[in-house]
Amino acid sequence: MQFSRPRGTRDFLPGEMIKRRYVEGVVRKIFERYGYKEVQTPVFEELSLITRKSGDEIRERLYDFKDKSGRELALRPELTAPAMRLYVNEMQFYSKPIRLYYFGNCFRYERPQSGRYREFWQAGVELIGSDAPEADGEIIAVAVDVLKSLELKNFELRIGNIGIIRKMLRSSGISESEQDRIINAVDRGESIEELLKKAGVEGDKIPRFMKLAGERRRVIRDAELLLKGAEILEDIKKFDEMLDLMESYGIKDYTVDFGIARGLEYYTGMVFEIYADKLGAQKQICGGGTYSLADVFGGSKISTRGFAFGFDRLMLALEAEGKLKSEGDGRVLVVPTGEKMVGDAIRVASVIRKNRPCELELMRKKLGKALAYADAEGIPFVFIVGEDELAEGAILLRNMKTGEQRKMKIDELEKWRQ
Ligand code: HAM
Repeated sequence: MQFSRPRGTRDFLPGEMIKRRYVEGVVRKIFERYGYKEVQTPVFEELSLITRKSGDEIRERLYDFKDKSGRELALRPELTAPAMRLYVNEMQFYSKPIRLYYFGNCFRYERPQSGRYREFWQAGVELIGSDAPEADGEIIAVAVDVLKSLELKNFELRIGNIGIIRKMLRSSGISESEQDRIINAVDRGESIEELLKKAGVEGDKIPRFMKLAGERRRVIRDAELLLKGAEILEDIKKFDEMLDLMESYGIKDYTVDFGIARGLEYYTGMVFEIYADKLGAQKQICGGGTYSLADVFGGSKISTRGFAFGFDRLMLALEAEGKLKSEGDGRVLVVPTGEKMVGDAIRVASVIRKNRPCELELMRKKLGKALAYADAEGIPFVFIVGEDELAEGAILLRNMKTGEQRKMKIDELEKWRQ
């Protein structure tokens, strides 16, 4: 009897893992260039860490369970709450700002489809301690820099501000939890007119504000017209100043969208999302913004912002643009031409491994079959260990691309680079 994988999970074969590790390497490199340092947290957390801010409704979308001692636990659905728990427990007294990054698997009990899985990976950063507008600019810059370094072409950056919307809702007398519900409805693409009416909000300013989207100057002008004379204009001005600083990071290609709501409840200010145009329904490859969690987890209130890439969607987007060629990775195959040469072939392979990946032919294949294997595997170089050459202290090197073969002294092997 064969077993199948649990629904919504995937196996990654070697060819795929080579590509994933390559992309992961680029992501880590860029995070580190900006001074972010890696942290790791457990795959499962106390259930209440996740429900504290998001409420009990989130349990439907979680893998939650009781362990043998009856503790209520959950597999992490994301990494911001765990990172902030770690900050509150261990790092509150570190000097600021604190720049953290993570790369790890997350679990959500969702209906699987292309680009949506029950186990998926996130790569993200959290910037703790600065509330300067350039801190907002920095996290957006890091995300865009990752995409540019990976040479992704078709992506769209949209920036909004949930803080302004929350403030407008608050001044209409709407409670925090009601705000969460409304913002959540917007994130799901539902119309909020009804919800607002039910909550007793007069006028159509808020829905009209949330529909403002497009080129920066036009949207800011429209917002100023819509909110004329209101105190909230000060926040629009601050948001506009943040965009100025962001442009100093070289980010000019984006849309301002006051309709960005984000699915998670903890956002309080600037929010942004990045979409890969070539992906279908699940095209959001990155999301983040300014949020407040430290105080929810028993720490002091502190300004925090961050984002996470959906790593699997990032892979799909790169794949769709043909950016992930699994070209020859410099592997080498060593083939003994007969049983007597196996010992020498093992010694030759050991020398090559000092510099590069090297495999030994293990199936006792005849030379022709071994070369066909190298060809099929895309192995660019084969060393043939034959009796006649060995007698002269040499072996044959075959370039699989050109078919050329030349003799090489075994003494020269260690210096061989190609
Ligand atoms: P999120 O938008 O829920 O934000 O998730 C971040 C990214 O994870 C999404 O943009 C998406 O690409 C990917 N993602 C989410 N669910 C799935 C899934 N079921 N399958 C595949 N990919 C998925 C957060 O999680 C926040 N913690 C981001 C953040 C960090 N905000 C501040 N700091």
